[in-house]
Amino acid sequence: MQPVRFVLVGTGNIAGTYVNATAKVAGAKIVGVVSRDTGRAAAYAAEHSLGESGGSLDTIETDYDAVMLATPNGLHCRDTLAAAALGKHVLTEKPLDVTIAKMDEMIAACRKANLRLGVAFQRRMSPANIAMKKLLDNGALGKLYCADLSVKFLRGQDYYDSAPWRGTLEVDGGGPFIQQASHNVDTLTWFFGLPARVQAATGVLAHTGIEVEDHGAAILTWAGGMIGTIVASTVTAPGYPVRLEIHAERGSVLTVNDEIVAWDVEGVQRPEVESAETIHSGAGAGGVAVTDTSGHEAIIEDFCSAVREGRDPAVSGEEARRTGLLIETIYRAAKAHREVELST
Ligand SMILES: NC(=O)c1ccc[n+]([C@@H]2O[C@H](COP(=O)([O-])OP(=O)(O)OC[C@H]3O[C@@H](n4cnc5c(N)ncnc54)[C@H](OP(=O)(O)O)[C@@H]3O)[C@@H](O)[C@H]2O)c1
Repeated sequence: MQPVRFVLVGTGNIAGTYVNATAKVAGAKIVGVVSRDTGRAAAYAAEHSLGESGGSLDTIETDYDAVMLATPNGLHCRDTLAAAALGKHVLTEKPLDVTIAKMDEMIAACRKANLRLGVAFQRRMSPANIAMKKLLDNGALGKLYCADLSVKFLRGQDYYDSAPWRGTLEVDGGGPFIQQASHNVDTLTWFFGLPARVQAATGVLAHTGIEVEDHGAAILTWAGGMIGTIVASTVTAPGYPVRLEIHAERGSVLTVNDEIVAWDVEGVQRPEVESAETIHSGAGAGGVAVTDTSGHEAIIEDFCSAVREGRDPAVSGEEARRTGLLIETIYRAAKAHREVELST
């Protein structure tokens, strides 16, 4: 089997995760790297044996099929359009981008050129989450009452000072709702679909020099009556594992870092799933590095199959857009200081 050949865009934190993860996926190979700085690109390519390097995608001469975007949030649209113009499939880091208008541009460009667009919301590859999704789709929990998501992380001032784009509205796009908690907001929209109405409050409580929230809370109401809450934070020392509590007619489920830790559902057996500890150990509570690559391995593997089979990846642009829409609506509600309706 010929591997799907990738050019990696960016040489920062998550780029390293892509290098390490791709090395473990038989059907994928990185054949080039692009950086704003051609010297850095050359050094990075040499250090990790990535083949060719360059300052932009259109300078890469080696044949390749797809790009991996390891660039900041608000640059994913720019980089997707550049790749699509060259006829390359796109696997981008989360979030899809920071505005719905840019997300729509990305989706349209890839659809028009018949290119795959995949997004690294890797929590969807967690065995426990996959099992939960199946049970929820089958209505196994009965009527859904509520879901409460807690993403209480800690980032010091040094995190926001570590790069000029962090904490900016234009490129980061927001604080913990779009940056740290977007993975778990994605799980929520995947499990339950989009709510109909949203209330929210956000604040800058502990950091300086940032344009985005460092703490916030949202109340979501679904059309069927289910009520959800989300707390997303980078001020909650020392940083805690992500908790999702689901309460329904037949009982309750608690997941912690995408593992089922409590199962109190009448008449429904707890799903037997292999531990995803390796996929989500740490899960970002205290720092940015994703040293456990198994989630990205699964995303890359699925993306390569999608390219080969001409199907959508597990997390397509449209799927990631739904999560983006909920986050954008949370910000809109916080700004308006009132409940707002979610419009598609
Ligand atoms: N899936 C996950 O679990 C996960 C975890 C962490 C981060 N992420 C996502 O990964 C993306 C990158 O985050 P990161 O932590 O890797 O950030 P980072 O360390 O700042 O790396 C981003 C890289 O993008 C390149 N870049 C190109 N244009 C840039 C610009 N105008 N400003 C800044 N950098 C630019 C830079 O490489 P060059 O200078 O070489 O061009 C930079 O090193 C974000 O979208 C983030 O949300 C995802």
